[in-house]
Amino acid sequence: MAFPVTRLRRLRYNGILRQMVSETQLSVDDFVMPLFVIAGKNVRNPINSMPGNYQLSVENIVEECKKVWASGVKAVLLFGIPEHKDEDGSVACEHNGIVQQAIRAIKKEIPEIYIIADVCNCEYTVHGHCGTIIDGDVDNDLTLITLAKQSVSLAEAGADMIAPSDMMDGRVAIIREQLDLNKFEKIPIMSYSAKYASGFYGPFREAAESAPKFGNRATYQMNPANSNEAMREVKADIEEGADIVMVKPALSYLDVIYRVKNEFNMPVAAYNVSGEFSMIKAAAQNDWIDGDRVMMEVLTSIKRAGADIIITYHAVEAANILNKLK
Ligand code: PBG
Repeated sequence: MAFPVTRLRRLRYNGILRQMVSETQLSVDDFVMPLFVIAGKNVRNPINSMPGNYQLSVENIVEECKKVWASGVKAVLLFGIPEHKDEDGSVACEHNGIVQQAIRAIKKEIPEIYIIADVCNCEYTVHGHCGTIIDGDVDNDLTLITLAKQSVSLAEAGADMIAPSDMMDGRVAIIREQLDLNKFEKIPIMSYSAKYASGFYGPFREAAESAPKFGNRATYQMNPANSNEAMREVKADIEEGADIVMVKPALSYLDVIYRVKNEFNMPVAAYNVSGEFSMIKAAAQNDWIDGDRVMMEVLTSIKRAGADIIITYHAVEAANILNKLK
C-alpha cells in the first residue's frame, strides 16, 4: 500500500515504540573482551594506539578481569606476551607459559568468568610469523604440531574455549583430535575461520608485540577481495569440528558475516579488531565524532549483520552504556 496510507515514519514518533519494533538488540551477553597478559611483576603498560587498553602482568590481569566481570561482560579472550620468544612458538606450550599462568590465577579468583584462549604462534616466535618458518615461509603441517600442543596446554591450565587464529589448513582437525585424546572433549573450538590479511591489525601488533619481522601474512591470511573463498574456509572448519566460526575483522566484512550466518546457520563470532577500535577513539579524541554513539552504532551493525558473539575492545564501555539503559 502506497503513500499517503502507508507512512513509515508512523513507527518512529515514539521512543518506546521505536524500541518495540527494533529489529536488533545488543546485549552484554554478546560481548567478549580481549586482554593482553605480559611477563613480569606489577606491569601495566598503556598501549599507545589503543587508549584504555594495557599490557598487564598476571596479578593485574586478575584485577582487570574483576572489572570486566563487574560490568556484566562474562567472557575474556587472552593473548600473551612472553618473556622469551623462540623459532617455532614452543614457549606457548609450556606448563608455566604466560597465558597458562594467567588462566590459573584468574580462575582462582573469579572461577565463573569464561576464558577463551587464543591459539597462535605470532606472539611467541622471534620472527613474528604465525608458525614455523621453512624456506622463508610458514610451513603449514609443522605449525599444526605446535598449535595442537599449545591448545592442550591451555586446556590443561583451565581455558574454557580454544580459539585458533593462525589460518593454517587443517588446524581445527588436529586441535580437536588432540583435545579429545587428552579428555578435553567438552572444550569447544571457536575458529578464526575467515581471517583476512588486514591493515586493521596494526594496533594489535603493537599491543601483542607480534608484527612479522619480514614479509607479511598474505600466504596464510585471506585476500580482502574474496568472499566465496571465505565460505570454503568456514565449510572446511565446520567439517573439521569447529563449534563456532569467526569472521575477522568485522566492519569491512559485514557482508561476509551475513553470508556465513545465512549459508551455515552456525554460531558466528565477529572480531571488531584493534584498528576498528582505535579509529573511533582517535576521531572521538579530536571531537570529530561522538565516540559512544559511533561505538554503539558499530556494535549494532555487527549484530545486525548476523554475529552472535562480538569480540571487542569496547566490551566494558558498551556494557556500561547498556547497563545504564536498563
Ligand atoms: C594473531 C592475531 C592477530 C589478531 C588476533 N590474533 C593479529 C595478526 O594476525 O597479526 C588481531 C586482533 C586485533 O587487531 O584486534 N594471529
